[in-house]
Amino acid sequence: MRSKKSDKHFPHDGDGRDIETRFAELSKIEPLEITTSRELTMAVMGAGSRGNEYPAYGKLFPGTLKVVAVADIDPDRRRRMGDAWDIPAARRFGDWRELIAAGTGGRLADILLIALPDNLHCEPALAAMRQGYDILLEKPMAQSECECNDLLACQRETGVMVAVGHVLRYSPYFRALKRALELRLVGELVNIQHQEPVMYAHMAHSFVRGNWHDGQATTPMIVAKSCHDLDILKWLVDRHCLRVGAEGGISLFKAENAPDGAPTRCTDGCPCEPHCPYSAIDIYERKRWFLYVFDLPRDCPSEAILEKLRMTDYGRCVFRMDNNQPDHIVTTLLFEGGVTASFTMDAFTPWGGRRSRIMGTLGYIEGDGKTFTLHRFDTCKPYKWSFLPPDGEKYKESGHAGGDLALIRDFLKAVDTRDFSLLSSNLQVSVESHLMGFACERSRLNGQMVEI
Ligand SMILES: NC(=O)c1ccc[n+]([C@@H]2O[C@H](COP(=O)([O-])OP(=O)(O)OC[C@H]3O[C@@H](n4cnc5c(N)ncnc54)[C@H](O)[C@@H]3O)[C@@H](O)[C@H]2O)c1
Repeated sequence: MRSKKSDKHFPHDGDGRDIETRFAELSKIEPLEITTSRELTMAVMGAGSRGNEYPAYGKLFPGTLKVVAVADIDPDRRRRMGDAWDIPAARRFGDWRELIAAGTGGRLADILLIALPDNLHCEPALAAMRQGYDILLEKPMAQSECECNDLLACQRETGVMVAVGHVLRYSPYFRALKRALELRLVGELVNIQHQEPVMYAHMAHSFVRGNWHDGQATTPMIVAKSCHDLDILKWLVDRHCLRVGAEGGISLFKAENAPDGAPTRCTDGCPCEPHCPYSAIDIYERKRWFLYVFDLPRDCPSEAILEKLRMTDYGRCVFRMDNNQPDHIVTTLLFEGGVTASFTMDAFTPWGGRRSRIMGTLGYIEGDGKTFTLHRFDTCKPYKWSFLPPDGEKYKESGHAGGDLALIRDFLKAVDTRDFSLLSSNLQVSVESHLMGFACERSRLNGQMVEI
C-alpha cells in the first residue's frame, strides 16, 4: 500500500502543499480599485460601446483616469462623451485622423484607447505609436497576419506600451483557472475542451445582421469573435501552438433557408415572424435586447425601435443578409509537448459565456464561465470555486465577468509604473494568438491542417 507521503509527492502534483491549501489560493481576487501616482489622461478613438466601457473606470474610481480628447464620426456619440468628461470643443474630433493631426506637436494624453471598428485598428495604432502614445487597442488588433507583424515591429521600434483588449485574461474566473494550472491542481495538463457559446440572438445581431457580418470587411469569425478563446487557450496551456485544424460554415443563415413568403425585412409583414426566433421585432422590440446599438434606452417607445428596424440592417431578414460568417466552427490545436485542445464556437445556444473542461493527469476541471469544480482522482473529492467579489458591487459593473474593468486597472497600473510585466495581454503575446486565428481560418477554407 502506498504511504501518504508518496501520494503527496506524485511527480505532477505541484509544490508539495496539500490540495486544500493550494485551492484556497484561487479565491484571492485582486480588488478593482487601485491608486495611481497621478490622474492619467486618455484620448478615445471611437466613442461607441467599447469606447465607453473602459473610461467608466475613471468615473468609478475618481483620480485615476480622465478622458481629455475624443474622436468619433458620429456627432451624438462625440457630444455625449465630450459632455460626460467636460472635454473642450478643440479636443472633440470627427475622424480619428484629426486626433492624430492635433497631436503632431505633442500627444494629447498619456494613453490612447482605440475602440474603432475592426478595419480601423492597425493604421491608427501605427500612427499613435509613432506619436508616443501608450495604447489600449481593441481586439482584433489587425485584419491580417502581415498587419499584426507590422504592429509588433512598430511597437518594438517605438518602445511604447500596447495592451490588446483580451479581457478574458483579466476576469477572475480565467485568472483562477490559470492559477489552478500553475499550481498543478490537475497534475500535468493533457487536454482542454473549450466552448464559446455565442447564443442564437447574439449571433443574429452581431454576425448576421450587424457590424461583423462580413468576415472580409472586418475579420473572420474565428478572429473577430474567438480570438479571445484562442488567446485564453494559449495562455492556459502556456506553450507555443504548433498546428491547428478547423472545420465549420454557415448552416442556417442563408437564402435557401428563408421561409416561404418571407419579405426582406421582418417589419414588412413576414408570415413567419410570430414564430421566428431570429425575428428582429422579437429580439429588439419585444425582448428589448441589444438596444445599445441604436443608443436607445430599454424603456423607449416601441415606435423608436421599429423605425430603426425599418431603416437599418438590424431589421433585415436573417436569411437575406450579405453575411458570410460561419455559425459553427470546430477546431483542434496542438501545442508544444503534445498538449492538445479543441475549441468550438457555436451560434445555436440559449446562453453566451464560456464553458471549460480541463483534463490533467491528476484531476479534471469543469467550468461554466462563472464557477468551476476541480475533481481530483486521488482524493475523489470535488473542490468548488465561485467568484466572490472583494469590493462589493463594483466588479458587477464590469462586462466580461469583471474582465473589462480589470484590464483597464492593470493597464493603468502598468502605464503609471512603467512596468510592462503587469500587462498580461501585451502586443507580443496577442500577436501569437491572432496568428493562431488566421491559421484556423486558412485551415477551415482549405480543408488542411496548418502549421504555425
Ligand atoms: N474586447 C472585447 O471583448 C470586445 C467586445 C466587443 C467589441 N470589441 C471590438 O471593439 C471595437 C469597437 O466595437 P464597438 O462594439 O464599440 O463598436 P461601435 O460601433 O459601438 O463603436 C465604434 C465607434 O467608432 C466610430 N467610428 C467609425 N469610424 C470612425 C472614424 N473613421 N473615426 C472616428 N470614429 C469612427 C463609430 O461612429 C462608433 O461610434 C471593434 O473592433 C470590436 O471588434 C471588443
